[in-house]
Parts: sequence; C-alpha cells; structure tokens
Amino acid sequence: MTAEADAALGAAATSLLGDRRLIIATNRGPVTFASAADGSLRTRRGSGGLVTALGQVGRHVPITWIAAAMSEGDRRAAADPKLLRLAAGDDAAIRLRFASVERPVYEQAYNVIANPFLWFLQHQMWNLSERPVIDAAIIRAWERGYVALNEAFAAAVLAQTRSDRRPRIMLHDYHLYTAAEAIRRVRPGAVLSHFTHIPWPPSSIWQNIAPTIREAIARGLLGNDVVGFQTERYAHNFMRMIASFVPDATVDYEEWTIRRRRRITHVRHYPISIDVEATRRIAGSRAARRRADQLLGGTRNQVIVRVDRLEPSKNILRGFLAYEALLQRHPRLRGRISFLAFLVPSRTSLREYGDYGRKVQNAVDLINARFGQSGWRPVQLFYENDYAQALAGLSIADVILVNPLIDGMNLVAKEAVIVSERDAALVLSETAGAFDQMADGALAVAPADVVGTADALATALAMPVEERRRRLAKLRRGVEREDITWWLRRQLEDLVELTG
Ligand code: G6P
Repeated sequence: MTAEADAALGAAATSLLGDRRLIIATNRGPVTFASAADGSLRTRRGSGGLVTALGQVGRHVPITWIAAAMSEGDRRAAADPKLLRLAAGDDAAIRLRFASVERPVYEQAYNVIANPFLWFLQHQMWNLSERPVIDAAIIRAWERGYVALNEAFAAAVLAQTRSDRRPRIMLHDYHLYTAAEAIRRVRPGAVLSHFTHIPWPPSSIWQNIAPTIREAIARGLLGNDVVGFQTERYAHNFMRMIASFVPDATVDYEEWTIRRRRRITHVRHYPISIDVEATRRIAGSRAARRRADQLLGGTRNQVIVRVDRLEPSKNILRGFLAYEALLQRHPRLRGRISFLAFLVPSRTSLREYGDYGRKVQNAVDLINARFGQSGWRPVQLFYENDYAQALAGLSIADVILVNPLIDGMNLVAKEAVIVSERDAALVLSETAGAFDQMADGALAVAPADVVGTADALATALAMPVEERRRRLAKLRRGVEREDITWWLRRQLEDLVELTG
C-alpha cells in the first residue's frame, strides 16, 4: 500500500469513526478455539476468503470483531477475557468478542440454514427436482436457529456500543441477514452496513423458497444504511429481488436506493481483495520458501496449482476431469507436468461436503492409476489448512486453475497473481466475481465446459513466457491498485457521505 493510499484510508476512518472503534460482525472469526489433549485451549486460524480479507482490516482501523462462538472452545473463551486477548494475538488493534448461543441453536443456524440452505441457494447448486424441501424442520431451524443467532449477534453488538447513539457497525455475509433489523429496533440512529461475500442470484431463484424466509431476509437487510455486494450484477439482482418481494419498498434503479417506511438503503458494490503486503510477507516467510523448494523437489515439470476449500461450488471435480482430458489428448505432456491441489477441510459435518470429498479423492486416484508412471504422480493432493503452504504452492505455479461454478469473488486468484514467481498463467471461471476485474489478463473458462477448460490449460502451458509475463504484470497492477484498503476505504467514505 502506498503512503498516499494509507493516508486516504486513515482520513476516511477518522471522519467516519472519530475515536470510536469500528464494529465488525461475522459468523467466522479470525481464530477458533479447540481443546488440546491436556484440556487447554489452542487457537487456529479460520479458513476462507472472509477471514483472509477481514483479518487485515484491523491493521488499518481499530476494530471490535464480533464472531459466532462456533466451537465448544469458543463458548468457553466467550466468557474469559484472558483467552479473548490471546485470540487477538499480537494484533492489539483487534478486540475479539463472541456472540454465543447454545450448541443446538448454533447447529440449526449453521448446519441447517446457513450452509446447506442459503449457501446452496445463492450458489445455485440445487438439483431443483429434489431439493430443497422446505419442511417443518427447516422452518423451525430458521426461527429457532438462524433468527435466534442473529438476535444474539444484535445483543453482542449492542453490548459493545454502550451509550453511543450512532455506533458504526459492519455486518457480514449470509449468516447475518436479519441482525440489522434487530439492532435498529434498539438503536435507531446506528450507522449500519451489510456486505454479502457470496453471489446474489436472480429473483427466480429466491422465488423457490418460502415467502416468510425471503421476506425476512429482505426486510432484515433493509435495516441497513448501505448494503454492499461483490459485483454490480449481484447488487442489481438484490434490487430486483426487493422489487419482486417487498411490496411496500420503492426501488430507484438509477440512484441505487431502496426506500421503505421513510428509511433509505443504498445499494453498492465493492469487490473485495487482499492485503498485498501481508500476502507477500507470508509467501516470503522462511517456512513458505522452504516449502516451495520441497514442493518443486528439483522437478523441471510445469506445475498446475489449485487452492480451494474442499467445497462443491469450487468445481474441483470438473477441474480434474479437464486435467484428465488434457493428459488424454496430449500424450507428450505425460510425465512432464504436475497438478498440485491444496484443498482445505471445510464444513466437514455436512453430508454434502463429505460426499463431495470422497468423489474428489476418487477422481484423483483414478487419474493417478490411469496415467501414473514410476517416478511420476500426475496429481498430488494436500488436504490440510496450511495457509503458508498454499501460498508457497501458488508461488511456484506455471498455471493457476480457478474454475468455480460460481463464486462471490475468489481471493485465491488475487493471491496467486501477487505471489507468483514464475509469471503464472491464470485460468479463471467467467462466473467468479473476480473475473469482472481480471478478465483482461486471465484465460476465461465456462465452469461446466470441461473440454474448454482442458484447452485453456493446454494454452496456458504452451503460452510464451513473454505473454505470460505481460498478462501477469497487468493482473498484478490491478490487484495492487484495488487491494483490501481500497475496498475498505470506499465503504468508509460511502458511509460518511450517505449517512452523514
Ligand atoms: C466463504 C464465506 C465465508 C466463510 C468461508 C469459510 O468465504 O463467504 O463467510 O467464512 O467461506 O466457510 P466457513 O463455513 O468455514 O466459515
């Protein structure tokens, strides 16, 4: 970040916050507590784009970060100031607090509504002829789990605001759609924004679900002064959804505003990004450098790399099908390329994720059995949450494969162009939010198009070094310019301007 960008962010923060802290609320916090064998609590970094991006915000603005107590350890830590201080680590600017509900309540919110229901809905991953089935169990989980968790978040936020009549609060993502309304009831003057990190699908998708749920989501979000999305299309889809399902709201498509009961909500888009310096620092750490050397292991092979949570929307299976097609159609590549897949365990208590994981493992085994030769394993799979290793993998890639079915943004694409040491070529889904900013330098693929993805991999592997360098330099400049401070600054400035 340049000194100029730093100063601009500082100025925006001061004019929005004065001497307040910014309150950020997210389901997943920067760390989670797990009990070690000896009964003590250990912290672990959360995975996923949200934590990656927001973890850096505290470096620029003093924040109170309210996260859900997701584990038993978190619930214990929630009431223990010493542990909470430990969780923030050396980052004195972050004050961590938990919104804690009983385990069954949390399970309903996270494992019945947020992930299998809202996540699948918004990523359009349902096989509609069979799912979803909105039965009494879903309605109960919505009311007693999701809404209850949002109420607990509202209470935890309000507990941090004390007598401040205009606290500045940013709510995040699909776990917290109804919290703003609950906060607003108690603190009508609060400055509230909500940012959705995942796609916002067209109204026809929302049409499938129970009106009570979609209306509660819409009303909840209209409790905010600003609602932010990753792309202009998602922001537009949101306005159309409101026009379709909230009869007493007036949508102004030119002004990007929604008026309901004398309140105005501004609809904006802010593509999220990474902290370039922090990413470089971790990728340049001794541990990451050593790991990069080990991964290369003296090979002269060209390396294809992917990094993802083990997640159905990431389209990992079709990525392997494309690699298989590549080896099938280009026999001379056999023995000369390697595919390193760094997959991070995610939502392991959900059946869909377990099933998907088994299919991924099978696909890898099949490719290795079919094409492997002595001394050459076509695919190497790493299944762990090791951020430094993942960055090390990205740094040595010749080709980065990012082919999600649909993705709010996808920060791996942005991390990859920053840490690449080999002028990697980026193969990127047109349906990732990141594509809007990266279309110029990336090789585009349609996510279901396995043949096209295999062709794109072949093109990337054969691309002259000069062209790779030119494309990467352009992508890198884009990410450096539109980094996490840019994302944050624009939101802070909008909040000053629109709520001032
Ligand atoms: C995505 C979501 C985040 C979520 C992350 C990891 O990036 O937008 O809200 O935290 O996935 O998922 P998890 O369920 O493990 O928090």
